[in-house]
Amino acid sequence: MTLYSDWTRWCALLDSRQDHEDEAAVFVQAIRHVLGPGRHVLLELGAGAGNNAWFLSRELDCVLTDLSGDWRSAAPRTPAASTSWGT
Ligand SMILES: C[S@@+](CC[C@H](N)C(=O)[O-])C[C@H]1O[C@@H](n2cnc3c(N)ncnc32)[C@H](O)[C@@H]1O
Repeated sequence: MTLYSDWTRWCALLDSRQDHEDEAAVFVQAIRHVLGPGRHVLLELGAGAGNNAWFLSRELDCVLTDLSGDWRSAAPRTPAASTSWGT
């Protein structure tokens, strides 16, 4: 049994989306510090359940990837139309 395959269906119990809101805000602040205002494109390598992306996609165009097909298929899609998943 491995964390990044068999455990994917339990991810919502193990890792609450709401717990990522503060983390995502720090990332947005750091990106804005370097790149300035505007809707920038973010490539997230290892997006897992997409919890950070859920919040990041409010302000950034997110392209999400993950090595694990189980995570890619289990992750809920983020609400922003600008978010897309790749392998
Ligand atoms: C802790 S989870 C990421 C959680 C995510 N940041 C979120 O907001 O929900 C780490 C993820 O990285 C992925 N991963 C690990 N090694 C990788 C690699 N070499 N390339 C792409 N994804 C990888 C795993 O499959 C796993 O889904």
